[in-house]
Amino acid sequence: MPYAQVAGWGMYVPSRVVTNDHLAQMGLDTSDEWITARTGIKERRLAAQGEATSDLAVKAAQRALDVANARPSEIDLIIVATCTPDHLMPATAALVQDRLSCNNAGAVDVNAGCSGFMYAIGLGAAQIESGRARRVLVIGADVLSSYVDWQDRSTCVLFGDGAGALLLQVSEEPGILFTTLGSDGSGAGLLVIPAGGSRLPSNGNTVRNGEHYLKMNGQQVFRWATQIIERASIKTIRASGLTPDRIDLFIPHQANLRIIEAASKRLGLNEEKLFVNLSRYGNTTNASIPIALCEAIAMGRVRPDDHILLTSFGSGLSWAATVIRWGVPLPVRLSPWRRFRRRTGRQWTSVRSSLRRQRQKARFWWERIFPRNSV
Ligand code: COA
Repeated sequence: MPYAQVAGWGMYVPSRVVTNDHLAQMGLDTSDEWITARTGIKERRLAAQGEATSDLAVKAAQRALDVANARPSEIDLIIVATCTPDHLMPATAALVQDRLSCNNAGAVDVNAGCSGFMYAIGLGAAQIESGRARRVLVIGADVLSSYVDWQDRSTCVLFGDGAGALLLQVSEEPGILFTTLGSDGSGAGLLVIPAGGSRLPSNGNTVRNGEHYLKMNGQQVFRWATQIIERASIKTIRASGLTPDRIDLFIPHQANLRIIEAASKRLGLNEEKLFVNLSRYGNTTNASIPIALCEAIAMGRVRPDDHILLTSFGSGLSWAATVIRWGVPLPVRLSPWRRFRRRTGRQWTSVRSSLRRQRQKARFWWERIFPRNSV
């Protein structure tokens, strides 16, 4: 049976840094002390005006392709995990496919709250293991700053924007050992953006009532999260044929330091095995785990043959966990000539993508001016 292994990784965060103090200075009734003590977050990155989820996703994905030394045409499937797509339709993955010129790839979005990225890993790995794909690009990207109420101190301080990507590739050695996917829709109301879907289409009233913003019952989510991380992690570790002491690195969803510490304690995983970076990014929703993994790799915390446990939870309610046996060598340094070719290739790709869009427009107008006889 073919296995799925991580062959490339990349992350991107917007350049705009907003600290806890900035939020208080902007008039929000909060303080750095409160946010740090209750969440562990010190600052977050926010997308610029007009910067959308696909913009972040493309940058992270390009880096993952570079690390794997893979050509866009070699990608069979792109899965974008997001709860803040550029549009309700088309899928953000389709926009990413076009911008990267992945001309042989299918493209689909996954929405499973903050667990979407882990769902994407599970689904992508399954495509490879079944022999239907050789390379799958899984991306977690969100611009939740567009959906939080910046007057609501109980939610807006928690989130940041970002993107992370992994390239999964067919391998003879096991890489993604097991993925657990779980959900409990009875908790749907605990973390919800009420308006903007078919249940409550946006209109003047919904906007006036702020129903297009994220609503959350923080305390209930908190209590549930500490338990579900432990349950999902234990199930996944066992299904991977391991015991908790065989885990070398634990990367939980970066939502709240207190949740992370409580869950690690329950799992018996000490601080040296834990990776946390939420003080700098906040909760970046679907990007949280891939960004943390990229930083762990950059800091030398991931070595070949390590067992890495990734566990997430979020709106749905949903949860997911996976254990990866790390098998890739560290990235090769590219020669200046290869770097030049890659840069020019990318520029050409974006020109081609824009030409394709212009051609679609021209065809539309041509067919309106000179309609074909219908059969
Ligand atoms: N600054 C200052 N005070 C704040 C505040 C802020 N940013 N946000 C809330 N408060 C206040 C509340 O109004 C409340 O005041 P009151 O006692 O006068 O009513 C007080 O702090 C305590 O609020 P509470 O909700 O009990 O705080 P908490 O300890 O539960 O922490 C969260 C709140 C949101 C940080 C915490 O519940 C949490 O992290 N939950 C999980 C959320 C999560 O991870 N969501 C994403 C899932 S993917």
